[in-house]
Amino acid sequence: MKNLKNALLLKQLYQLKQFGYSYTSANIYKEDTQDFTLPNTLESLAKQAAQCHLCELSKTRTKVVFGEGNPHAAILFVGEAPGVTEDTTGKPFVGRAGELLTKMIENVLGLSRNEVYITNILKCRPFNNEIPTPEQAHTCQPYLLKQIELIKPKLIVALGATAYHYLTGDDTDISKVRGTIHQQNNYTIIPTYHPSYLLRNPSAKKEVYVDLLKVKELMQTVAQ
Ligand code: URA
Repeated sequence: MKNLKNALLLKQLYQLKQFGYSYTSANIYKEDTQDFTLPNTLESLAKQAAQCHLCELSKTRTKVVFGEGNPHAAILFVGEAPGVTEDTTGKPFVGRAGELLTKMIENVLGLSRNEVYITNILKCRPFNNEIPTPEQAHTCQPYLLKQIELIKPKLIVALGATAYHYLTGDDTDISKVRGTIHQQNNYTIIPTYHPSYLLRNPSAKKEVYVDLLKVKELMQTVAQ
């Protein structure tokens, strides 16, 4: 899902599927009358995302949670979707899971939160904090891909199964792939457990610690 046009087409196809269609040759988007390109700065992209109505979550969100941090960060953290605190503040990972993520960044990587960039697969809060549907994730994907293109991180840390799945297309259980390195297009992804999972399963913190040490080591290698 590289651009907005594809996201709009996909939205249309999902709608037709809900009506029972399994085939269509119709294309309602005329290239010459609409501009499907996404802006080339994070600031303008954030402004465009703030106006987004591509999926039903735009009706229930309070704020679009675009992401925040260093626009030239070497490390990009990608979570699942905003929760209630993120939806109210418009900032990613600011609830309990966010506090834990911040501690992990500071204590294990030795970086401050504003040296990295943090975002999510979905930019709007799902109803009842449900797991993003494929439709929502695919529709929102052009924003994330453009963020990656603009930030050009050396490493993307996928926080949890949802982030890993939508970044790589792979369905392997997160417990089997955590800490492993994946080359995807021009970027490198390392999956680990989501901080919310760690709040429920504190014993898994030691595995995330090991994964983040690997991140630190990789960053030292690429910096040389
Ligand atoms: N969980 C996420 O995946 N993202 C947030 O921003 C907050 C909690």
